[in-house]
Amino acid sequence: MRQLAIMTLISSNSSSAFKDAATALTAGNLVAFPTETVYGLGADACNEDAVARIYEVKGRPKNHPLIVHISSVNNLAKWVREIPEYAIKLANEFWPGPITLILPRARIAKDFITGGQNSVGIRVPAHPLALLLLKEFESQGGLGIAAPSANRFGKVSPTCADDVKNELSSYLNQSDLILDGGSSKVGIESTIVECISSTPKILRPGAVTADMISSLLGTKIKIMTTNKGTKIMAPGLFESHYSPSALVKLTGTPAIGDGLIALSEVQTPPGVIRLAAPVNNDEYARILYQALRLGDQKKISKIYALPPTGDGIATAIQDRLRKSSGNTTKSSFT
Ligand code: TXA
Ligand code: MG
Repeated sequence: MRQLAIMTLISSNSSSAFKDAATALTAGNLVAFPTETVYGLGADACNEDAVARIYEVKGRPKNHPLIVHISSVNNLAKWVREIPEYAIKLANEFWPGPITLILPRARIAKDFITGGQNSVGIRVPAHPLALLLLKEFESQGGLGIAAPSANRFGKVSPTCADDVKNELSSYLNQSDLILDGGSSKVGIESTIVECISSTPKILRPGAVTADMISSLLGTKIKIMTTNKGTKIMAPGLFESHYSPSALVKLTGTPAIGDGLIALSEVQTPPGVIRLAAPVNNDEYARILYQALRLGDQKKISKIYALPPTGDGIATAIQDRLRKSSGNTTKSSFT
């Protein structure tokens, strides 16, 4: 039987919170921490035992690689080799920020991080508390924090500390910590860009959009809509992902007692439970996961989530909603 955990939620109001969190990571414990996208479940990226616990706590298959978080582009060279020039441009322009670069790995990116692949995903997050944590961890000798989203495998990513606590507290132990940094401003996971061949590819759309990347690099960028032809295990392609307990429907008319997530211009039919009414696409991304979780708290069995049209961050919302609804046939990466 699993023991009930008594891990601690520490608040960013305490000036030493990030130091305690860095010390916990250095000691081999797990720390859930805020980023501007979603909360991550962190471990010392060079500590195999600590990283193994991430997989246990998430219930995630071992061959799904992890993103390594670092405090600055200056630390990139430790983790990767043969960085294409366009990747350096992307890093300089968008870091710290919601973009992960997949690059050929250096020796310190071990198989237990990359799932045995020769590439590694790296990100410099923009949340001030994440940066303080990373800098403190690095000052204690750490090289990077491996962190997937802090949810159970296949479930909705958490965008605040309480959601992490509700989801993971029974899997964490008393030496693990949750660092509270308020609500994530972006609300959906980072854009993932594969920087392996001569041209970049978007593996997962996010707040750094295809247009932003194209205009920086002066080339059109491909958004992958399937992982055919890559060896990489992508959770979203094999089973439903970003999924609440409720059934998520992207089209149709909600009936009495169903939930509804849609832009504010969409009216709520009588008897339907409105879970979110964002005024624009940025707000839609920011509150989407909270709204899906709210549906579960209210024990709603069917949620209608009407995706915004268009491109930009709408592409990322459409991608996540398609996966939430269990339609993974057209999905891109998770
Ligand atoms: O916004 C984010 O990216 C959040 C925060 C915490 O940084 N992290 C996150 O991690 O979403 P995760 O593990 O939930 O999703 C990362 C995705 C996974 O689908 C994984 O397969 C893919 O990135 N990934 C990681 N390393 C990769 C690699 N070397 N090649 C291809 N895909 C990779
Ligand atoms: Mg995830």
